Amino acid sequence: MSLVMDFAGKAVVVVGGTSGINRGVAEQFAAHGAKVAVASRRQDKVDDTVAALKAAGAAEAMGFTCDVRDIDSVRAGLEQVHQAFGDFDVLVSGAAGNFPALAADMSANAFKSVIDIDLMGTFHVMNAAYPLLKRPGASIINISAPQAWIPMQAQSHVCAAKAGVDMITRTLSMEWGEEGVRINSVVPGPIDGTEGMERLAGTEELREMTRKSVPLQRLGQKSDIANICMFLGSDLASYVSGTVIPVDGAWSHAGLGGISDSLAKFARAQK
Ligand code: HXC
Ligand code: NAP
Repeated sequence: MSLVMDFAGKAVVVVGGTSGINRGVAEQFAAHGAKVAVASRRQDKVDDTVAALKAAGAAEAMGFTCDVRDIDSVRAGLEQVHQAFGDFDVLVSGAAGNFPALAADMSANAFKSVIDIDLMGTFHVMNAAYPLLKRPGASIINISAPQAWIPMQAQSHVCAAKAGVDMITRTLSMEWGEEGVRINSVVPGPIDGTEGMERLAGTEELREMTRKSVPLQRLGQKSDIANICMFLGSDLASYVSGTVIPVDGAWSHAGLGGISDSLAKFARAQK
């Protein structure tokens, strides 16, 4: 059986798409002929990514700056993209912030900053994009994390925020389903060469410990996440909605190895 992924003429928007995992997703859609837009806070990262999307083969590429904590900036940027591309076929929401810190040592503003980026940011992206979605047919993908259901020390802010993200996914799949809009969460495992890994398992020793804790015995690649997003964005997934899909080599079943203990140790050493 041969399978061709063709996104020619499709409008794809990736919020938080200017580095790491999400940029990998944007580039994969570009390589399959989509019109792709990315957004994040920094203009230099937006410009660099737009150039890469064009080089990868995007039918059209554009970007805008916004802070997902500011719904007006998100709305203004998404409306610009809508004017250029038309209704959105695929929307990926993946902006996130993370740092290891124990709850007792964190200021309220530190906790709030992650809630505001990950959870409020997801709501802002959903709410602002709602009138701009293709109906029927749009596919929304929220990028979650294993912390959403596996408690991890020094990650109370991220655990709380990403659990909320997955509940937004489930709830909106019910609210928007009758309009033909699908919404799913993708949960990456430990993905090599990313900011997330740098922040949570930044030494070679921790990287190797993490690799060994994955039942498939390897770290994930950005392409592993891009591939599931291609599937969810395509008609192959036309009956898939309201799900939370780990793409993690079974890492979550293995309890994420010793990363929780190592993060607690790291955070205590910072005191
Ligand atoms: C304790 C910290 C802290 C730390 C920041 N804060 N870093 N507290 N320990 N290491 C506190 C600050 O003191 C401040 O509180 C509050 O958090 C906000 O910090 P700012 O620097 O003012 O915020 P801002 O400039 O908005 O930056 C947000 C950020 C930053 C989240 C702190 O790190 C960021 O922009 N991150 C985006 C990129 C990122 O994190 N990518 C990784 C995603 S990986 P006070 O009280 O002093 O005002 C991921 C999952 C990975 O999400 C899973 C892997 C398995
Ligand atoms: P990353 O490179 O830091 O990507 C984060 C993206 O979001 C960047 O484009 C960043 O660009 C943007 N961003 C951050 N804060 C923003 C804000 N307030 N407003 C708008 N944009 C913002 O991180 P990553 O490690 O690849 O992680 C990507 C996603 O995967 C995140 O949702 C993360 O939780 C999830 N995840 C990652 C891993 C992993 O192994 N790395 C594992 C599980 C889940 P600017 O800085 O320019 O704003």
